[in-house]
Amino acid sequence: MGKSFGVITKTLVLLVLIAQIVKTEDKVGKKEQKPKKDLRDYTDADLERLYDQWEENDDEPLPEDELPEYMRPPKEGPPINFDNVGNMNPDDIMKMTKKGKTVMMFINLSGSPQRHESEELTSLWQGALRNNHIQAERYVIEDTRAIFLFHDGAQAWDAKTFLLEQDGIAEIQLEGQAFPGKGTKAKAKSKVEL
Ligand SMILES: *[C@@H]1O[C@H](CO)[C@@H](O)[C@H](O)[C@H]1NC(C)=O
Repeated sequence: MGKSFGVITKTLVLLVLIAQIVKTEDKVGKKEQKPKKDLRDYTDADLERLYDQWEENDDEPLPEDELPEYMRPPKEGPPINFDNVGNMNPDDIMKMTKKGKTVMMFINLSGSPQRHESEELTSLWQGALRNNHIQAERYVIEDTRAIFLFHDGAQAWDAKTFLLEQDGIAEIQLEGQAFPGKGTKAKAKSKVEL
């Protein structure tokens, strides 16, 4: 069980635990004639210890669907439908699996631009993407290298399609795949001639 559920839930669980433990200590107390421990005597450290104890003893957890909603493990992204994967191209498959997830794109700029030129160029691309409702955070990390960060990873592949049509990109790296850019106009031309 993760510790991710809220403070209120945790407090409620602790109160139930304490009630049980106080009951148990009551019985023991009767035998040993010990005064019962008041709930208010429990320190934060006591509570933490009780909670850990309870977590350790919780070796037979309820099946997931019998747990109350707030205790179920979080679901990861929308379920992936593999029915049509055979008809999809690799980009579409990647888009589907990265929907709603953060994706980083590395861009190598072509030529030898200075930092401020790279800032300008990547900023233009960022603006053009934004006009097409593609949101990317932009970081120039070296004179010739930038990162575009997409919070909806699916958009990264649309951005790649756009960026590969622009001059000034030597290469784009996306999820371990490298895509050659057009480079400069001159370079693109010499490529065609080769
Ligand atoms: C892209 O940049 C990285 C890091 O600077 C470099 O290792 C890699 O060779 C570059 N790739 C191309 C095609 O320029």
